[in-house]
Parts: sequence; structure tokens; C-alpha cells
Amino acid sequence: MSNLFKTKSVDKLLSESSVEKNGLKRTLGRWNLISLGIGAIIGAGLFVRTAAAAANNAGPSVTIGFIIAGIGCALAGLCYAEFASMIPVSGSAYTYSYATMGEMVAWIIGWDLVLEYALGAATVSIAWSEYLNKLLGYFDTNIPYQWCHSPFESSVSGIHGIMNIPALFILLLLTFLLIRGARESALVNSIIVITKVSIVILFIIFGWSFINQANHTPYIPEATKFVDAQGVSHNFGGILGILGAAGVVFFAFIGFDAVSTAAQETKNPKKDMPMGILGSLVICTVLYVLFSYVLTGVASTEDFRTAGKEASVTYAIQTYMTGFGWLGKLVTVAILAGFSSVILVMLYGQSRVFYSMSRDGLVPKIFSDIHPKYSTPYKSNILFFLFVGLFACFVPQDIVGDMTSIGTLFAFMLVSAGVWIMRVKNPGLKRGFKTPLVPLVPILGILVCGAMIFGLGWANWTRLFIWMAIGFVIYFSYSRFHSKINSKD
Ligand code: ALA
Repeated sequence: MSNLFKTKSVDKLLSESSVEKNGLKRTLGRWNLISLGIGAIIGAGLFVRTAAAAANNAGPSVTIGFIIAGIGCALAGLCYAEFASMIPVSGSAYTYSYATMGEMVAWIIGWDLVLEYALGAATVSIAWSEYLNKLLGYFDTNIPYQWCHSPFESSVSGIHGIMNIPALFILLLLTFLLIRGARESALVNSIIVITKVSIVILFIIFGWSFINQANHTPYIPEATKFVDAQGVSHNFGGILGILGAAGVVFFAFIGFDAVSTAAQETKNPKKDMPMGILGSLVICTVLYVLFSYVLTGVASTEDFRTAGKEASVTYAIQTYMTGFGWLGKLVTVAILAGFSSVILVMLYGQSRVFYSMSRDGLVPKIFSDIHPKYSTPYKSNILFFLFVGLFACFVPQDIVGDMTSIGTLFAFMLVSAGVWIMRVKNPGLKRGFKTPLVPLVPILGILVCGAMIFGLGWANWTRLFIWMAIGFVIYFSYSRFHSKINSKD
């Protein structure tokens, strides 16, 4: 009988990874890591989900939502940093939990990470499609509504969506690049980071003088219900609205944990890793709060429910910032490039987690089959293209975006709990970085992330529950019988 809580030894993990990654040089310093983090972080969460959270949940007080989400991430980030410094190998939360909390928890996290990476990629690809249409608008053309929306959406003039072809296109293109072994080079990443940060700062500076105080009044709308175009009811305004907004814009922070996957290539992982994770978080939180303050001041909540619902930033610039047409164009192009890099990181992360799970026997071998020429897990890339593509084509962005948020929040709660459990179970293990004030920080991390899950509402709780239930069926009917660690008993 297999042991659900059997752990993979840290020594074995370290030696496996050194064979697997033979020759990989430790070249990254803390600034490289911060840059890696920002490259993965700034994307659709800021440029698309901010407007959705303002429209459905909190109006201008979405800024407070960003602060809550940033605090939740910092608390979980401190816990991630301890794990990353304790087990400085690739593979993210799945690998950490296998070494520390055993197979079943590792499975739960690995399965849950599909929501973060695969559905995250779907969300950003849908956002990419919105901004592509804005770009085409500059050339007086566009993709017909029905071919860039899911069947569950309809336009103000009553046209129904059929499928989102541009979203599928960008996923196909990036999957092809991944199969060919493309990983963003440090240079490309740096260029994209500088571009993304520059457009955020330019929008804050130039948009500031276009803030209309009427749009910020009242700053925290009175608590009520808002029913969106799909007929879904949201808590709008008040504290529940802010918590809901925090859950939605939490999406904008996802990716900082990607920094931890570079532990093997880091010069001094024990010190640089926490700096990389927390540094990128602090920079992004400051930018996000200022950006959302300006965006909700330039355009109104009503705009974000109607004409400015899609590609909201370009909409706000075009409609209200007279004389800044050039900024609108620059932002649109930069966003399209920035989104592509986020999708690439997410698709890569997804195939990497399933590669590790497949090597451990928890998912079929097909996920670790390597291409003879390109040395990439190409079958896994193709299967995930199909899986992610289905969501991108046929499910509205609000749904996949919120499923990404809730799945990641759940993973953060487990990682926070894990750090605390490990301190009790295995206090002697060497830790380069120690989360301060354990158990206070993990407990606060669990509470703040839990509050955001609460804010996301019952429809999202149900979806998470169903996803995890499917995961349990697979684990108990397949994975536990194929697990390599258990078969060596
Ligand atoms: N944080 C990433 C984004 O906002 C996932 O696109």
C-alpha cells in the first residue's frame, strides 16, 4: 500500500537536479531575479483585470484591493522564499511540497498549479485578443465580434460570440516557439521589462492631470449588488466589494513565484532569492496602486461596464486624454509584446511542473517525453496547447481569470501552512532564509489569502472544489499506483 505522506529526500532532489541540469551556470544576481519577476508579473492583471474589478466589485477603491492583494502576496512570498532557500532547485511549489509534506500534498499543489499556469495563460491570451483588436482599429479594421469572443458573451448590439480565434492564434505561436526550445533570453526579458515599466510610469505621469475627481467620488461605493452582462451577481462596494476586487486583481501579482524556479541558476540563492521575490513585489505594488488610481480617475466605473470594458487602458487614453493618441498606440503595442512574454512564462511553467510530476510517476509519461532534436517536452506542450486553447476559445475572461486567482490563492495558503508545518516537523533542516515571525506570518498569509478567496464568491468556490475533486479522483485511481517513490518500497 502506498504511503500518501512519503516525502522525497532533499538530498536526492538536489542530486537529481544537478544531473538533470548538468552544466547550468549560476549567473543570476538579485537584480536579474527582480527583472525576471517583473517580466512575469506585469500583464493582463493590471491592463485588463483592473477595469473588471472596478466595474464589478469596487469602483475606484480597487486601489485598496491592490494593497490587500500585495500584502497577501508579500506574506506568502516570505514563505515561498524560505522554501526556495531550503530546496534551491527548479520546480516551484510542487517540488518543495514533495520534499517536505509528502506526495498527496504535492499532488494537490501540482494539480492546483494547472489553474495558475494553464488558465492564467488562457486569461492573458484572451486579453491579448482584446488589445489586438485595438491595434487593428488603428488601421481601420477589426476582427468581427463573434470570432474574438466566447459563446457566453454578447455585444451591446446583441451579437453573440462563437470562439476567440486571436487568443488561440497567440497560444499556437508561443507553443511552437516553446517546442523549438525558445526561452526568453535575459536580454529580451530586460527589454520587455523596461518597456512595460515605462508605459506604466508614462500613463501615471500623463494621466494624472486628466483625473476627474467626480470619478473618484465616492471613493468607496456604497455596498450593493451589481449584475453583469452575463447575469452574474457581484458584491459591489463596501468591504465585500474591496475583498472581491482584491481577489480579482490578485491575478496581477501572479508570477512572482516564477522567480523561485530560477533558484538553480542563482549565484547566491539563499540571499538573492528572497530579495528577488520581495523586491519585485514591492516595485509592482507601488506601480499598481498609482496606475489604478489614475485609470479609475480618468475613466468612470460606468465606462468599464460598457464601451471601456475591453482594452480599458487604450480606451481611457483615446477617449479622455486629448493629445495623447501616440501614448495609446505605444501602450497597445507594448501591451501585446508584454502579454506574449507572460503567456510564454506560464506555458513554460506549466510544462515544467507536469514534467516533474511525470518523472515522479504522478501523471503519464507522455508529459516528460522529450523531443529528439529540440530536447523539449513537446508532447506536453501540444496537449497543454489544446487544453488552454479550449478555455481561451470558449470561456469568458472573467471566469478563467477568477479561476486562476482562486487556484493560486489556494496554493499560497498551502505553501504558507507548509512553512509552519516544516518548522515544527523538521526544525533542523538548513534554511538560508527564514520567514520572520513564524507562525504569525504564515497565519496572516493564510488569513489574507483566505479573505480574498472569500471575496471571490460562491461560483468560484464551486469551480475550485470541482477542479480539486477531479484531481482527487485521478490521484486515487492513477497517480498513487504509478508513483515512483512508492514503487521503490
Ligand atoms: N501577473 C500576470 C498578469 O497580470 C499573470 O498577466
